[in-house]
Amino acid sequence: MEKFVIHGGRPLVGEIEISGMKNAALPILMGCVLVKGECIIENLPEIHDVTVSLQILEAMGATVRMLDRNTVAIDASNVRYGTAPLELVNTIRASYYLMGAELGRFGKTHVGYPGGCDFGVRPIDQHLKGFKVLGADAEIVNGYVDAETEDGLVGGHIFFDLVSVGATINVMLAACMAKGMTEIENAAKEPHVVDLANFLNACGADIKGAGTDTIRINGVERLHGCSYAIIPDMIEAGTYMIAAAATRGDLTITNVIPKHLDCVSAKMREMGVTVEEGDEWVRVSHKGELTAANVKTQPYPGYPTDMQPQISILMCLAKGTSTLKESVFDNRFRYIDELLRMGANVKVDGKMATFEGGGLSAARVRAVDLRAGAAMVIAGLAIEGCTEVDNIRLIERGYDHIIEKLQAVGADICRVEIKDVKASAQAE
Ligand code: EPZ
Repeated sequence: MEKFVIHGGRPLVGEIEISGMKNAALPILMGCVLVKGECIIENLPEIHDVTVSLQILEAMGATVRMLDRNTVAIDASNVRYGTAPLELVNTIRASYYLMGAELGRFGKTHVGYPGGCDFGVRPIDQHLKGFKVLGADAEIVNGYVDAETEDGLVGGHIFFDLVSVGATINVMLAACMAKGMTEIENAAKEPHVVDLANFLNACGADIKGAGTDTIRINGVERLHGCSYAIIPDMIEAGTYMIAAAATRGDLTITNVIPKHLDCVSAKMREMGVTVEEGDEWVRVSHKGELTAANVKTQPYPGYPTDMQPQISILMCLAKGTSTLKESVFDNRFRYIDELLRMGANVKVDGKMATFEGGGLSAARVRAVDLRAGAAMVIAGLAIEGCTEVDNIRLIERGYDHIIEKLQAVGADICRVEIKDVKASAQAE
């Protein structure tokens, strides 16, 4: 077990380069199951969830060759359906993209029920609704999702009850080689939905409208291999933007698509932070006080739920009353207990958190999920004293070389082995 040890109160100054987007890389890797041929995927982030995804593909019979740290060659020609190892599948949420990919390739799927961060109940009813419209009546039995079609998938019209990134992606995967046209309405518009559509089209699919709330997929006979580079990670970028503001630093964050961060940049400017933009970079600097603000998370292009814990740190440091409404997940405030440990003045009522600002104090806290863990790191960087963050494996699931990137811009942060307290007490 390891923890981060942070000596905070130092401004982050310099330049950070952003890696490929986790939530684009994962569906694209699983999407390779649709392809009888070799796909070269570039700009892969070096994170745990990518490693697990590649292990799953290899276990299913794909050949997986790392060409360099961020480039992989995958040939799924000999992949066998229903062979994804359960012990790997239920450690990451993105394994559920295998449902759509197996249905698209084989007309049937057998995949373990997904894992992922705990934000309360995370049903998959919309995924199953989409599969049913395509002719695959899925059921959940013994911890697996099973679906099969006798004579292959047939395109249809799906109107999602709510905006779901996962369900939009899964139906796109399944519909690529279905007979005829599939229309998805009330689709998610996230950049990673667009990135997957672009990857699939590079493999010969016929997908139009990704990035809008109506996506049309004209089924094709087969998909062929391609080379494709993952888009930059807007959430990684947003996380470092907020860290720059929280530490009163001056950070230039490169290899970004500023448009993806419009909502985050606007909210930070509202709080008094300077945010400048270039073609492929943003520069964030801040001196003086932060102004309180109100945030409500929304599907893209609204304020991202994956940036919710991070901005709570600015709200703790700002003067005055801020409110933070989580409207995407049932319960994404489990990390507030950790902020209370740091002396935060915050109250949670259902899906609304109200912050009275006034600052934080260094403490030993833990990552309760991926983005909340990143928020604890931001808090530790911002405040004087020594903050320790436990359960860092959750952070390293989604942030590529976070320690090295922060050290390079002046952060005093390191990874420390947690000795087994019982064993070391007995030894003394
Ligand atoms: C993806 O999760 C991301 N995960 C999440 O990022 C992200 O927070 C989320 O999209 C929203 O942007 C990956 O891409 C691996 P949803 P997903 O389906 O697909 C409800 C991170 O930090 N819902 O858009 O699970 C659901 O419960 C992670 O990188 C249903 O009710 O999100 C939630 O309340 C955390 N039924 C809402 O919709 C369904 O069938 C949005 O979920 C599907 C979803």
